[in-house]
Amino acid sequence: MKVVASAPGKLMFMGEHAVVYGYPCIVTAVDKRLYVKAEIIDQGEDQIHTPQVKESRFVLETIAFFKKKFNINKSVRIMTQGDFSQNVGLGSSSAVTVATFKALSELFHKRFNNAEIFRLSHKVNLKIQGIGSGFDIAAATYGGITFFVTGGKTIQPLEINPLPLVVGYSGIKADTPFFVRKVAENFRNKKKEMKMIFKQINKLVLGAKKSLLQNNHQLLGELMTDNHRLLQKLGVSIPRLDRMVDSAVKAEAFGAKLSGAGGGDCMIALVSKEKRQAVEKAIEKVGGEIINVNNNAEGVRIEN
Ligand code: PMV
Repeated sequence: MKVVASAPGKLMFMGEHAVVYGYPCIVTAVDKRLYVKAEIIDQGEDQIHTPQVKESRFVLETIAFFKKKFNINKSVRIMTQGDFSQNVGLGSSSAVTVATFKALSELFHKRFNNAEIFRLSHKVNLKIQGIGSGFDIAAATYGGITFFVTGGKTIQPLEINPLPLVVGYSGIKADTPFFVRKVAENFRNKKKEMKMIFKQINKLVLGAKKSLLQNNHQLLGELMTDNHRLLQKLGVSIPRLDRMVDSAVKAEAFGAKLSGAGGGDCMIALVSKEKRQAVEKAIEKVGGEIINVNNNAEGVRIEN
């Protein structure tokens, strides 16, 4: 028997970095998915083929956690396929972890709900990366647009329509652990200042949640741009991302910001239908590449 499961990638909407320190963020799942095919093999070691993910350890650890939990000693073959490359920062590691748990639970007929998938996937990621809020795991597991607090203390789905976002890729692969460590170092040296920035980000995230539920895109956009300014203060933006954000705002996006750890990967802009094209052009003009993704996508699921 073969089983295929898939999980979506993610985009951080607002609240990155602060979420590592116990504050909330808002994350959305996107319609680019990571597919995991799993089957039982008769003999030999586990076989894995995972060209979409930067480290095969995510799959190896997931298999190990699963086998230990359910006392399984059979071997498996895992193969991945993806709608997106690991380079753009849409969260291939978290999606592959979540999809592998789902595929294995189906393959071995084990009951494994989303709360368990989230909890164990977060453990796998922490074991490998040492740090991380788990927002990407929540998006891969539950899908949708979610109000999320560190470690999954709160995972609240926001019942809203997909957002009119433009996503621009900077062409630079972000080094997330580097920037998380950089912020941690600043936090040790300038605790008071950093705490103040996190509190300001927290306020913006709470405001954004309200604006999202009220469908107030004008205000939401302003909060996004304010969030970008605070990320600049944290020292995680780079000139390329700043140019993309500024030109999107100049082309009359409601607002724009970098998305994720900073240092590269993507920026997002909230736009009206009328301004979408102008904003996309403005981002391209300063070296960004427009990525066509929809947000508010479905969480982990079995495909066959
Ligand atoms: O670089 P990304 O898209 O994986 O986002 C990182 C977001 C951080 O808040 C900086 C880290 C985290 O685990 O929440």
